[in-house]
Amino acid sequence: MTQDTAPNTIYLKDYTQPQYWIDSINLHFELGEDETRVVSEMEVRRNTELNGSRILELDGENLVLGSVLINEKALSDGEFSVTDESLWIPDVPDSFTLQIETFIKPQLNTSLEGLYKSSGNFCTQCEAQGFRKITYYLDRPDVMAKFTTTIVADKSKYPVLLSNGNPVDTNDLDDGKHSVTWEDPFKKPCYLFALVAGDLECIKDTFITMNKREIDCRIYVEAHNIDKCDHAMRSLKKSMRWDEETFGREYDLDIYMIVAVDDFNMGAMENKGLNVFNSKYVLARPDTATDTDFINIEAVIGHEYFHNWSGNRVTCRDWFQLTLKEGLTVFRDQQFTSDMNSASVKRIDDVNVLRTRQFAEDAGPMSHPIQPDSYVEINNFYTVTVYNKGAEIIRMIHTLLGKENFRQGMDIYFERHDGEAATTEDFINAMEDASDIDLTQFRRWYHQAGTPQLDVQSEYKADEKRLSLSVKQSSETKTNKPFHIPLSVSLIDSDGSELKSAAQIVDITEAEQVIEFEDVEDNTAVSILRNYSAPVKLNYALNNEQLAFLVANDSDEFNRWNCAQQLGLNIMMALIEDYHQKKTLNLDAFYISTLKQVLIDESLDKALAARILSLPSEDYMGQNLPVIDVDAIYQVREFCKKTLAFELMDDFVAVYKSCQDDEYTLTPQAMGQRSLKNICLSYMMCSETETARKTAIEMAQHQYKNASNMTDQISALRCLAHYTEQEGGQVLDDFYQQWAKDSLVIDKWFMVQATATGTNAFQSVQALLEHDAFDLNVPNRVRSLVGAFTQANAVEFHHMSGQGYQFLADIVIKLNTTNPQIAARLLLPLIQWKSYDVNRQLMMKAQLQRVSETPDLAKDVFEITAKGLAG
Ligand code: TRP
Ligand code: ZN
Repeated sequence: MTQDTAPNTIYLKDYTQPQYWIDSINLHFELGEDETRVVSEMEVRRNTELNGSRILELDGENLVLGSVLINEKALSDGEFSVTDESLWIPDVPDSFTLQIETFIKPQLNTSLEGLYKSSGNFCTQCEAQGFRKITYYLDRPDVMAKFTTTIVADKSKYPVLLSNGNPVDTNDLDDGKHSVTWEDPFKKPCYLFALVAGDLECIKDTFITMNKREIDCRIYVEAHNIDKCDHAMRSLKKSMRWDEETFGREYDLDIYMIVAVDDFNMGAMENKGLNVFNSKYVLARPDTATDTDFINIEAVIGHEYFHNWSGNRVTCRDWFQLTLKEGLTVFRDQQFTSDMNSASVKRIDDVNVLRTRQFAEDAGPMSHPIQPDSYVEINNFYTVTVYNKGAEIIRMIHTLLGKENFRQGMDIYFERHDGEAATTEDFINAMEDASDIDLTQFRRWYHQAGTPQLDVQSEYKADEKRLSLSVKQSSETKTNKPFHIPLSVSLIDSDGSELKSAAQIVDITEAEQVIEFEDVEDNTAVSILRNYSAPVKLNYALNNEQLAFLVANDSDEFNRWNCAQQLGLNIMMALIEDYHQKKTLNLDAFYISTLKQVLIDESLDKALAARILSLPSEDYMGQNLPVIDVDAIYQVREFCKKTLAFELMDDFVAVYKSCQDDEYTLTPQAMGQRSLKNICLSYMMCSETETARKTAIEMAQHQYKNASNMTDQISALRCLAHYTEQEGGQVLDDFYQQWAKDSLVIDKWFMVQATATGTNAFQSVQALLEHDAFDLNVPNRVRSLVGAFTQANAVEFHHMSGQGYQFLADIVIKLNTTNPQIAARLLLPLIQWKSYDVNRQLMMKAQLQRVSETPDLAKDVFEITAKGLAG
């Protein structure tokens, strides 16, 4: 796209209904080796609620127009006009048949949006606005049509031809071609359209719904991956059952298909009846996928399945409503994962993502409310804010209403808006109608950006046995009005038992409020923001003893972890002070003993123990500093790891040995055991005393060689690659040889190297760009090398030379022409320049500036550089 002027900003306040509706569309694809012909036949009707424009303007991009017919009569040149982005027909009847023929070149489409090829197969990605790269259309989610799709292609190259809905016709044609026709009985917006054509195999299973309907479930993959689909199929069937049991939602078509592709911009896509997935979220075998991969696959399969109701049956009126489907569906998939596995561990993992990634986004120039009021490129708004903070907003509604009322509200929402394109307001109205709870003030969460802060102070009056908590809320955004915050609190007595009668959800609605507890004994601990009841920053100054008490005793497991994080943070922040003042660093014995208690407590859930033993991340530490000092953070964190390794070596070894599993299983217990074992190994590897280090290296090598699963193999590989030179190099080579044919495993190999630190770290990342296995056109590969380096290797990326920034800008400039969506996403670390010191700020801005001066800057990248430079 050539940009003579800055691209347009789209505003929510400008929303109007479309001038025309499209009730049905009949698509005909002839897939060819260098060109695809698309014929679209639509029933179009004027929107009589508006005052009747006779002009029809359809969206279209990178299309070659063949012909246009209205009611079967071809239009002549003067009767329409074509621009880079649209097809104009100035005078159309009230109601008519419109036929359009276009030609496209999927083979050359590297943007992975619209119709494109991946590993020789055709596939589509239409959300948000990719359908306009296939044919001219009203590419907006409030235009809902019934789709019928016929695909014609060479039968030997493309034996499998798929689209949405049910297959209704198949034919063998001349020249070795064949055709299949699919009909989707449900009206849908074009962003849910999908087509797949290729040489694929599938596994099949059946699911019997609550009303005893039989669903044909299929997962399509390339033949060599057919042995990696079982977990995905199990996950699909679990999702289907869970949505029936939890929300009473039944699947509605007779067939549900999932296709895995290697080239994909995001995680997966909920196209009606035909989900297309990044192969990363489908393929798994114990020896190729980690426990985290297995959990993520279950979550993403669930997520896309749950969209069938929250997204497809009820869709979005416009893209400003994105959180209506995404926030809600993330909440649903989180609940699903937490029901299938450990609820508190799931909560910990989700809060970690929110607090590191979403809080950072909200503190930077891309800060936006979960319902933004403007955008330049909608693809830039598939964010942690819209998705993960959006899910937190739904979770708070769930907390405020309670489980039963929330379920009732969901029923009302689905019933009232089935088959419609709805708004976030429709959702909240349904929740209010189900509960008689006034959500007027709560609605501010949809429109105000930024992370609210809660400052809490407690006061105990021994003579009155009265405990009071004063709660103040504030926002960095000064124009923000107070939020309605559900604050979960309880009390823990000095024996460590919860005073259950004190447990409550307090509605914080004012800027300042006091919570009173009567009849409280001295030395009672306050457990607050339990299970992370609201997405806020909590500032409640507990001293280290109080934190350690709660780590050991809180009945809320999330809070045990959270207090351990806070304790670790307090300790490390003080060490950063010492580091800056060039003092010798000393690790508090109290902290060591607190972690030791957790380590040796056999009654503790192992997955929880592993998380409590993980030090606060570098990102989380950075957020708590006025200026992020990547070197101080890294050095202090490494110092803590080394000291803990030294002090607790025997315990780490003992626990490590006790965690050897007899048999590989995927139960939460077995996964928890592996995570505790591997965290012990990673501590042991940090040890600097010679004998201990030797023991650790041997253990890691032994684990690497004898691993029965990828979790253990990659953990050992990471330990060796990050903490040893020679041994690390050997296992990296060995790993590559073993897995060269498995691209998802090779992604892990790239990622381990991208996150290594030390003298040659940057050079080896640069060298990996030239590796035969590196490919800038494959997003998974780019994320595993460039994404990991820039987002998970702060000391190297933010190296004072500025080399990391330049490296990133170079890649973004290349990707700007081939895949703007990925280019814009990769660029994001640079817009956080305000959080760093002045020298780094200048270098980061200089690279943003350089990117912004790229000729033919894509909208996606334009928006990020413009906002990033404005600060
Ligand atoms: N709707 C998809 C989901 O959340 C994600 C999605 C949006 C997407 N845009 C995309 C996926 C572009 C791939 C490419 O499930
Ligand atoms: Zn989604």
